[in-house]
Amino acid sequence: MDDLMEDTITVIGAGVIGGAIVKGLIKGGYRGKIIATRRKAEKLKELEGLGVHITSDNVKAAEEADIVFICVKPNDVLKVLEEIKNSISGKLVISTAATVPLKHYKKVAPQARFVRSMPNVAILVQESFTAYACDNDVTPEDKEKIRKIFEILGVCQEVEEKHMDAVTALSGSGPGYITIIIEALMYAGLKVGLPRDLALQSAAQTVLGTGKLAMEFHGHITAIKDMVTTPGGTTIEAIYELEGSQIRQALMRAVEKATEKCQKIRENLGLR
Ligand SMILES: NC(=O)c1ccc[n+]([C@@H]2O[C@H](COP(=O)([O-])OP(=O)(O)OC[C@H]3O[C@@H](n4cnc5c(N)ncnc54)[C@H](OP(=O)(O)O)[C@@H]3O)[C@@H](O)[C@H]2O)c1
Repeated sequence: MDDLMEDTITVIGAGVIGGAIVKGLIKGGYRGKIIATRRKAEKLKELEGLGVHITSDNVKAAEEADIVFICVKPNDVLKVLEEIKNSISGKLVISTAATVPLKHYKKVAPQARFVRSMPNVAILVQESFTAYACDNDVTPEDKEKIRKIFEILGVCQEVEEKHMDAVTALSGSGPGYITIIIEALMYAGLKVGLPRDLALQSAAQTVLGTGKLAMEFHGHITAIKDMVTTPGGTTIEAIYELEGSQIRQALMRAVEKATEKCQKIRENLGLR
């Protein structure tokens, strides 16, 4: 990480995700200079307290940076890019914006090297899954830095750009779906008489632990289910209920709908 520590990272649009990137980097031991911007700079006080340089001046912040994150909403991206285009020439620029294809960044600032990324809010606990696609000018050295940054923030994978909408729908929005599942399990715990804290902790840790198990498991993850399912036991009673509930189809539909929505947003932005 040492060479990375000499880079100045600017995060333009330090809201939910931009702020989480800044906090995640600091929590993960990043010791280089970090600059965070947003128009309402007074809302950056918390980050300032963490040693972050704060400003509303995107141009100056981009000028000072070695690596620039763009974390504004998709409809603000090209406006911000137009504003900073002369300050990012020759620099690595990582956007977290959903739906905006790399070619549109390149059109505005052909001299910059762009990465389209999709982290999720678990950056806050350094457990994001971040997928990213690179433009053709991104160098192997850049890729090494990108990987190191995203590994501070969780797990990452470079993907072809054609997968970015689906990844947005699955892992970008995923914490929303999993929260529903954790909440439902918590209420299930209440239904069978558990105290609230115990219900929440047992639900959340079960999701966390099963996720970890799935990541480290050698073989098909169905085998994890088999490990908990004793013939004639308690788990099969519950699984029987779940299989009748179309829970799988509901999750598949949710991700499919969110993927389709990416295209609709792009059309509304006038992008192809
Ligand atoms: N939220 C998620 O879970 C998530 C996950 C993955 C990717 N993303 C993507 O990340 C991007 C940001 O999402 P978000 O949820 O973090 O939104 P957000 O909380 O609204 O953050 C965007 C920030 O951009 C700032 N901003 C707007 N215009 C600006 C400008 N001209 N100059 C500087 N700052 C400006 C806003 O603050 P001011 O109004 O004070 O300027 C706001 O704090 C989106 O493109 C989204 O697709 C989000």
